[in-house]
Amino acid sequence: MTTDTQHGTRFPLEPDYDPFAPAIREDPYTWLANRRDRGPVFFSPAVGMWVITRYADVDAVLRDPDTFSSENAIVGRYHPEVTARLAGKVPMTATLIGMDRPDHTRLRRIVNAAFTRARVARMEEDVTRLARRLAEDLPRDEPFDVLARFSYPLTLTVIAGLVGIPQQDIQRCHDLSEQWNELLGADERGMPLDDQLRCADAALEYHAHISELIAQREHEPADDLITAVWDVRRTGDVPLSDMEMLSLFPGLISAGHETTANLIGNTLWHLLRRPERWRAFVDGTTDVGNLVEEMLRFDTSIYGMPRRVTRDTVVGGVAIPAGDLVFLHFAAAGHDPDRFPDAAELRPTREDLQHLSFGRGAHFCLGAALARLETRIALEQLAAIRPGLRLVSEPEHVPHFVFRALRELVVE
Ligand code: HEM
Repeated sequence: MTTDTQHGTRFPLEPDYDPFAPAIREDPYTWLANRRDRGPVFFSPAVGMWVITRYADVDAVLRDPDTFSSENAIVGRYHPEVTARLAGKVPMTATLIGMDRPDHTRLRRIVNAAFTRARVARMEEDVTRLARRLAEDLPRDEPFDVLARFSYPLTLTVIAGLVGIPQQDIQRCHDLSEQWNELLGADERGMPLDDQLRCADAALEYHAHISELIAQREHEPADDLITAVWDVRRTGDVPLSDMEMLSLFPGLISAGHETTANLIGNTLWHLLRRPERWRAFVDGTTDVGNLVEEMLRFDTSIYGMPRRVTRDTVVGGVAIPAGDLVFLHFAAAGHDPDRFPDAAELRPTREDLQHLSFGRGAHFCLGAALARLETRIALEQLAAIRPGLRLVSEPEHVPHFVFRALRELVVE
């Protein structure tokens, strides 16, 4: 660590924190543990943010949305032609996750009323049926990628079905959504304009399709979230514009799909890389609910989330000026020895975890109950139907500073 001067303040600069570098990408926890003695908050030029690593600091920031804003925290600039093409048809900012009160509170009230615990609980049977079918269809005599063949199809089908995307459209919607995602930061990455426009057209097609579904459900209700949001909207208690309603569903599908698929992947990897762990799990000696919570602490699927600082402030003894970005490192907080004794050990018997991997406060993960349900059922079904699973090779992680994800997980 060095110190440098910026904004007139001396601050801890950490040029070595590069989440894309292979060593940190594969094992961020050892690096973070070695770094801990030199202070819990540092500036990373690689990501252009202050990284906050201590549980108590991350927790305090999450509880102070006035100083640490979600608006303009997830930033991406579009080429002006792309902006013009999308204007009025595709939302330009992240819904819910990129909003502050009062708009966040209003939209979140609507979604909370539509996406209830009871609705999630009702999904148990459907998720189990789907997980069982996918597990039964896995190849029996050749290695396969369990992410591509099992966890991704499971979580995509569940969230898209829950929203109300017809079964036959799910794959197309997913492909369009992937192209739309490529636009985030495209200009900064130097993506050629033609490619940006192709992605913009995909975003238009995706949103046009969802708009049609929304229009249809207004008069033809179904057992899905689009209909449930219509039901809330009709009461007139909380205003919601057409564009806001449209913006809710693609956001939900993105937020609810890869995150959960990757948590299933990370959990399976840690079970299979120690065959005795997998055997204990298959034999039923591991409580699956506890295991999922411990995995969220131990190797979650979202490293953290950013916030924009609205006024000069101090975190963990470090002065942070207004306008800067901070990165709340949930995964580091989960390994804070002051909060979790023997943090580097995976111990499914830990109790009262209260990890921060679903965030906390106003933006607490909307889909936490669904993510827990899907991960538990996925693991139960694999253990029941494929108890002999074995890891074929050590996987690699995707270079990303928000998603902790394996590229593939090849098993047999
Ligand atoms: C293991 C899987 C998941 C993880 C680790 C995860 C993690 C998170 C975290 C950390 C946040 C808080 C972000 C912040 O404070 O800025 C969040 C918010 C959110 N999550 Fe999840 N999530 C998961 C699954 C899901 C699922 C299945 C859904 C959808 C059904 C979902 C929908 C959302 C939404 C809509 C928000 C924004 C809430 C708001 O800003 O009010 N997530 N998630």
